[in-house]
Amino acid sequence: MSSAININLDIKGLIFDLDGVIADTAHLHYKAWCQIACQWKFDLSVDQNEKLKGVSRKNAMQKIAKWAGKSFSEKELEDFAEQKNTLYLDYCESLSHKDALPGVVSFIDECRRTGLKLAVGSASKNAKIILQKLQIIDLFQIVVDGNMVEKSKPHPEVFLKAAQFLKINPSDCVVFEDSQAGIQAALNAGMKNIGIGSSDLLNCNAQIQSFEKYNLKKLSTQINN
Ligand code: BG6
Ligand code: MG
Repeated sequence: MSSAININLDIKGLIFDLDGVIADTAHLHYKAWCQIACQWKFDLSVDQNEKLKGVSRKNAMQKIAKWAGKSFSEKELEDFAEQKNTLYLDYCESLSHKDALPGVVSFIDECRRTGLKLAVGSASKNAKIILQKLQIIDLFQIVVDGNMVEKSKPHPEVFLKAAQFLKINPSDCVVFEDSQAGIQAALNAGMKNIGIGSSDLLNCNAQIQSFEKYNLKKLSTQINN
């Protein structure tokens, strides 16, 4: 479909993180982690949770155990991570189209109309399940998830795989991210990036609270500056 708008956009593809960018799930991850930490009588703080965003389930579990001063075997940590995932998936059971974050689907629709290539780049092994629940998985050419990478953000692997699949150069991609690990991964991949949400994010090209009233015209001013 040809573009109805005329924007001088110097990019070819957009890569969206999932949790906290497309889907309103970041608070569900936190709730499930808190329940695990609670078993150890440890209060996981909001600030600590910020450091878990964008991080793989395994790495997050290791970090929480360390903060709690607990020493577990590899097998015990795996069991706790599995318990967390069961809790998380229970919370996700009732997710539907309305749990896409405000404005993100309209923005994605605009990007599709202009012919931009679109991908999801997420640390989550549940990314495809969540996108299916939100009924938006078909909007993306590729979903690179936690099952497809070896290295967790801030390593750039997840975004580089997405760009490779889309057949575009990293420098022609913009990443949307709500986590510091994700912003760093985009930078490490040589990609421009836009921070999402109200957390303090360092080194992003620009930051927006949400996709409400956001459009490609605004993106072009942010990345062409
Ligand atoms: C990231 C989240 O997207 O995925 C993290 O920001 C989460 O909070 C990570 O730990 C792994 O997710 P999952 O669904 O594979 O446990
Ligand atoms: Mg995220």
